[in-house]
Amino acid sequence: MSYVKGLRCRECNREYSQAPIYVCEFCFGPLEVVYDYPAISRVLNITAITSRTNSLWRYRELLPIDGDPTVGLYSGYTPLIRSQRLAEALGVDELYIKDDSVCHPTFSFKDRVVAVALTKAKEFGFDTVACASTGNLGNAVSAHAARANLRGYIFIPADLELGKVVGSLVYAPNLIAVEGNYDEVNRLCSEIASQYKWAFVNINLRPFYAEGSKSYGFEVVEQMGWRYPKHIVVPAASGSLITKIWKGFEELHKIGIMSAAPQTKVYGAQGKGCAPIITSLKNGWDGIRPVKPVTLAKSLAIGNPADGYYALQILRNTGGGGEEVTNEEIIEGIKLLARTEGVFTETAGGVTVAAAKKLIEQGVIPKNESIVICITGNGLKTQEAITGAIGQPIEIEPTLASFEKKAFKK
Ligand SMILES: Cc1ncc(COP(=O)(O)O)c(C=O)c1O
Ligand SMILES: [Zn+2]
Repeated sequence: MSYVKGLRCRECNREYSQAPIYVCEFCFGPLEVVYDYPAISRVLNITAITSRTNSLWRYRELLPIDGDPTVGLYSGYTPLIRSQRLAEALGVDELYIKDDSVCHPTFSFKDRVVAVALTKAKEFGFDTVACASTGNLGNAVSAHAARANLRGYIFIPADLELGKVVGSLVYAPNLIAVEGNYDEVNRLCSEIASQYKWAFVNINLRPFYAEGSKSYGFEVVEQMGWRYPKHIVVPAASGSLITKIWKGFEELHKIGIMSAAPQTKVYGAQGKGCAPIITSLKNGWDGIRPVKPVTLAKSLAIGNPADGYYALQILRNTGGGGEEVTNEEIIEGIKLLARTEGVFTETAGGVTVAAAKKLIEQGVIPKNESIVICITGNGLKTQEAITGAIGQPIEIEPTLASFEKKAFKK
């Protein structure tokens, strides 16, 4: 049973039936999935959701599939951690870490979007799935395609971290390393997508794929005891996650699970050197001006963000904001989260922690209101980012004397 009514252009509102398409033929605006919310509100309530298995599919009526889910059955429902020690370090009362770096097949939130995209690709009858990726998406498509017995083509910039490369190759997809940055990879993929009948998860399946990120927002609300946080800090590359967390918050109100509309303030986090959304925000610009990305946070290195404009609107309209952080601040952010909460995040998480810290220090985020920090990927994939910044093991001979001399601290 599907609750999808079709696709609608975000700009001119023209409607289309469900198909692997992503731009409006009339105005080139992006297409978005439209649901039958009254019908969903008749079947989806807190009892139904909480009686289901712990995965993103507990929200299946709000995800754009027609039949049963077939891919990514174990994606989603990651921990929301009530922080004590990071909260103390930042001087705030109520802080949560939504940790998508664990309990996921490939250790990032991309296991959510790919669960939806590949279920949809199978519904449309594709035998080949593909993506343009900054690393994590490639890992998720590779793994889920292997299990679903689909052919995979993964396109990445040639300079990615080893963990991201190995994290795709092990699943034996066709991994294509392109001499260029993500925006060049993406442009090439658009060309390839127009030539071959493949399911490019973040191109022709983008309207469906992106909906998977709403589940991150649904879970935050559920795990806070059916409350919206007052503040949420979200890393941004294409800007899609920002837009979908917000859409998810709004939908819970639309279908009546939440009685009031969300009042959450949404903040974006980007690396300095690739912060087109934050730059527009700070300068009061209407649109996004593309940049050439230079940042340690390679997973966020998108200079021309597809959903940047819509993400920017959300940061502004919710009364939130955003920050950009240097490479040094990213490293400090990774280390701070690890030593206070025992969570080892990748560079994108370092960006988010560092941006949250700045926003709290500036007084933009108040210290006495609930705050969620979005941790979206695992640190074991970007080890080279911090290898030089965390010290060395203490080397000793295999004797008690050597241990006491070189390593023991009273
Ligand atoms: C770990 C991680 N966090 C956040 C993002 C940003 O996602 P979006 O493109 O939806 O803004 C990415 C994108 O690849 C990512 O890999
Ligand atoms: Zn249009």
